[in-house]
Amino acid sequence: MSVTDEIKSRIDIVGYVQRHVPALKKAGRNFKACCPFHNEKTPSFIVNPERQSWHCFGACSEGGDIFSFAQKVNGWGFKEALSELAAEAGVPLRQQTPEQKSESDRRDALRGMVNTAAEFFHERLQEADAASVRGYVHEARGLSDETVRTFQLGYAPESWNWLLNSLRRLGYSEDDIVEVGLAVRNENGRVYDRFRNRLMIPIRDERGRVVGFGGRALGADESAKYINSPQSNLFDKSRLLFGLDMGRRAIRDSGAAVVVEGYLDVIQAHQAGYHNVVAQMGTAMTEPQVRLLAPRIASRIVLALDADEAGQSAARRSLEVARQALSRDYAGRLSVDLRILQVPAGKDPDDFLRQSPEAWGALVEGAQGVADFVLDLETDPLRDGSSVQEREAAALRLLPILTASENNLYRQENIQKLARRLRFSERDLIALARDKQPDDGRAPAQQPPSEAPEYWDDDGEAFPAETSEFGEPSTDAAASRPAGRQPVRAIEPYCLSLLLKNPNMLYLVNRRLRELARGDDDLLRGPLRALGVDDFTGSQYRILMAHLQDSMAQDDREPLEYLKSVLGDDLQSEYEALLIEAPEAISRSIRRNFQVDLDDIFRRRVPRGGASYSDRDELVSRALQLRLARLENERIEMQYLQEEAQAGGGDQGQSEVLNAKIMLSMIAKARINGAVSQRSFVQPQTSIS
Ligand code: UTP
Ligand code: MN
Repeated sequence: MSVTDEIKSRIDIVGYVQRHVPALKKAGRNFKACCPFHNEKTPSFIVNPERQSWHCFGACSEGGDIFSFAQKVNGWGFKEALSELAAEAGVPLRQQTPEQKSESDRRDALRGMVNTAAEFFHERLQEADAASVRGYVHEARGLSDETVRTFQLGYAPESWNWLLNSLRRLGYSEDDIVEVGLAVRNENGRVYDRFRNRLMIPIRDERGRVVGFGGRALGADESAKYINSPQSNLFDKSRLLFGLDMGRRAIRDSGAAVVVEGYLDVIQAHQAGYHNVVAQMGTAMTEPQVRLLAPRIASRIVLALDADEAGQSAARRSLEVARQALSRDYAGRLSVDLRILQVPAGKDPDDFLRQSPEAWGALVEGAQGVADFVLDLETDPLRDGSSVQEREAAALRLLPILTASENNLYRQENIQKLARRLRFSERDLIALARDKQPDDGRAPAQQPPSEAPEYWDDDGEAFPAETSEFGEPSTDAAASRPAGRQPVRAIEPYCLSLLLKNPNMLYLVNRRLRELARGDDDLLRGPLRALGVDDFTGSQYRILMAHLQDSMAQDDREPLEYLKSVLGDDLQSEYEALLIEAPEAISRSIRRNFQVDLDDIFRRRVPRGGASYSDRDELVSRALQLRLARLENERIEMQYLQEEAQAGGGDQGQSEVLNAKIMLSMIAKARINGAVSQRSFVQPQTSIS
């Protein structure tokens, strides 16, 4: 038994909740009360002793097990809840190893030093002898005091040891100061400040912790315009985007991120009120940088690159990186709308924003789609007098980019455009793609467009037969469900094992849920929201899922690395078991439980072209099954509340709210059912042969 199950078996959720919610009363097989997490007059908070779960069907629309309740009611994180409840249950927990502890302590200490340095630089900028630097900031760069404070801009004075001495006085060792790159040790062993007479721009990680600096030269005679912190344990420029800590919210809210080249472009944009702007800091975008944005927080990335030669080639490289980064996980399609913004007339965004800040928004809105951009870029030189070979070569470079679009409609359009531009027939173009594209084992991501499976085509979808319950909500399903819970539990480790192997697959599932919502906000926020902890019932899985989500929300490390680092020993074994146990093995055990269902599936989808029954497809349909089970459980509980409310001649308002929720839940179920039965198992279309 896992530690969490052990704890659950020893602490009854009803008793635990009752301590915090004394009004909790037995009502039928459940317990209910007014929700402790929001204000209400009629109870919509349910505790289910059988499942050891709780749920608020009111404003919170949240639920979970004893751990999530303890977290929420006490304001704890999961670790805290685990250790507190373990102590209460008398279940021993294993600790972080001493090495792990000292490693993370050390990182914290170094980070503390870098933060302190940022404060020193910032204060130094206010001193009398920094007047000319302040002049540069305000007049030459047009930045306000507020901006200086927001970005904590600073000044590193013209000195070989000002910072060294300041930090040493606080007890930091020379070695550490050198290690984080604030000082340099030369061959003779002499140690001196790295940044001298520079405007200091703190670079923060996504959580807003300073991890390094960009230092801009103040005199024109300096050899390097910028000196940056060197690569270190703390500072990895290729995994950071300047401004992301401050831009994150705006990016999430608007769904769009604008990526510029320079620090000052970002700072200027913020000052002008455009907060969704981040900088890749001079180089072409790296894959980890793409992943910081998409698809986690941005569904559109606008690359704002300088119009010069360097900008163009950086654009091309960035595009390629973005495409590859995204295609590996997303079935060969960009799940992100990539656009290119060209700042007019040889300016950089900084110049443009200073001159006409109000025009920036329109510029971003008008950014060209990536397909059109690369199409122009590659085909303009081939307009006349080019050989078939040249045009073929261009087609092969372009096809992967043009077909990597999320939306089939656009893909078709892109192919048509390309065919026109290169004077090929569409059919020839597709044949070319099929013959010439290297098979790097990443099929079907690399398949030519018309052969890519036409999954999930929702339009005109009819509710399938299984959804006859749509019209007759009843608890019958519940009666037949107890046996049915077993297979669902078997799906949980299966889904998790796939997700843990490739956390990014989570997006695939969530995208599917999103698609099924077809833009309906109530569905998106309600029964078709992103896959989450509550789709799992086993505590150990719930916790792993929570960590998995955290791993996607942080950007310090690759999700898998992060997971390994945060899992306590007690969960480590659970995690390893899931990673080691081949999904096939778990899958087999599910198959036993889903004999009928799967036999049917396999019969219908014996691959014609040898395409394998891929993890991706399995995961999505299994995850949808998890969601179905969850919705069914929730519906039963809501139904029950509903009956209670009516029996008690209760609150009309609550009854209506519940009704609406039940309805919504059933719509969601119908759509999921439709998707599971429809997609599974429809052959990839081969429209061209
Ligand atoms: P740019 O040369 O375009 O500089 O470099 P900029 O941002 O417009 O700077 P200002 O406006 O002249 O002050 C773009 C980015 O490339 C990185 C920096 O991150 C810079 O913001 N860079 C550039 C360096 O790291 N080192 C350099 O020497 C130059
Ligand atoms: Mn500039």
